[in-house]
Amino acid sequence: MALLSVLIIGCGSIGERHLRCFQLTGRAQVTACDTRPALLAILGQTYQVATAADWEQALAQQSFDAVVICTPAHLHVPMARRVLQHGCHVLIEKPLSQSLAGVEELRQARDLAKRHAAVAYVLHVNPLLLQARDFLRSGEFGPVRHVTVTTGQHFPSMRPAHAAHYAQTYYRDRKTGGGAIQDALTHLANWMESVVGATDSVLCDCSHQVVPDVTVEDTVNLSARHGDILVNYTLNQFQAPNETTLQFNTATGSVKIEFHRRRWGIFRLGDSRWNWHELPPADRDALFIEQANAFIDQIEGQPARLCTLEAAQQTLRFNLAALASADSSARVHCTQVMA
Ligand SMILES: NC(=O)c1ccc[n+]([C@@H]2O[C@H](COP(=O)([O-])OP(=O)(O)OC[C@H]3O[C@@H](n4cnc5c(N)ncnc54)[C@H](O)[C@@H]3O)[C@@H](O)[C@H]2O)c1
Repeated sequence: MALLSVLIIGCGSIGERHLRCFQLTGRAQVTACDTRPALLAILGQTYQVATAADWEQALAQQSFDAVVICTPAHLHVPMARRVLQHGCHVLIEKPLSQSLAGVEELRQARDLAKRHAAVAYVLHVNPLLLQARDFLRSGEFGPVRHVTVTTGQHFPSMRPAHAAHYAQTYYRDRKTGGGAIQDALTHLANWMESVVGATDSVLCDCSHQVVPDVTVEDTVNLSARHGDILVNYTLNQFQAPNETTLQFNTATGSVKIEFHRRRWGIFRLGDSRWNWHELPPADRDALFIEQANAFIDQIEGQPARLCTLEAAQQTLRFNLAALASADSSARVHCTQVMA
């Protein structure tokens, strides 16, 4: 099969990873686009790819099958609309945006163009989560009543060598998708919604506690309602251990997922210990290669496995409700948030 021609717009921290991981699928010919010439020179040499400094010119001059948008969040929606108007499939980094403006029009542009549009909430291809979700969906333990999510990592240490210092990026400002809610919590909220349905309302407390050189929130406590299911999140972006634990509780048993131990387990009422399912170790690129393959599979007509625009729009409502709740110290319904 011919290689898919893929333009990566924005080749900073995550864009470089997409560039490498699309290449590693062996199914794509990649072009790197960024406004920073020095970065493009490094990436062109490191990965032996074509480069472009201007994404609109690149789209006008060359016919790409697909585009991956890895710029800050406030650029995602307008860029994705233009990309679809050019007849390309599009994979958009999370969060879909930092505002609801233009999202309906983006969905219309996708439908008009008859192209695939997906959002790169990468947890959708995490095998640990897929296995646990399949078990929860099997209904063996009955309906989920309560979920706890405890997660943290040292965000300043997570960025790769060529990437800009985090305090110089989107992260420093909520208007560009920055802060812990839009940057990190959104991943877990999006995946949670794929298990227990859309979030109805949130009560959120957040603060800047530690991460140097920025003032956006790096710590979040959030209580969510999904219908009659209660979900609690605690998250920070400064703790030393990179650890995430989710626990789903039903009347007859619990399901626990531990990212950092690559295992998920079940504990039936009456049991005396967890029954674990362990997965072999995998490096961080593995998930992104899987995501790239899932996107190419979808383009080639296989069932969609990635986050849809509709699901990402709902999670965008979650993000905005969380920010509004933190700012007002009141519970906010996701349907109430304005653009
Ligand atoms: N899925 C994940 O695990 C993950 C991880 C990190 C970041 N992200 C998301 O990806 C997006 C980018 O994050 P990042 O950490 O890579 O940011 P970054 O600042 O490291 O990279 C963004 C790049 O976009 C480029 N850019 C900006 N405007 C451009 C334009 N008009 N044309 C071409 N290039 C342009 C910048 O020069 C920069 O190199 C954000 O939405 C972020 O939330 C996702």
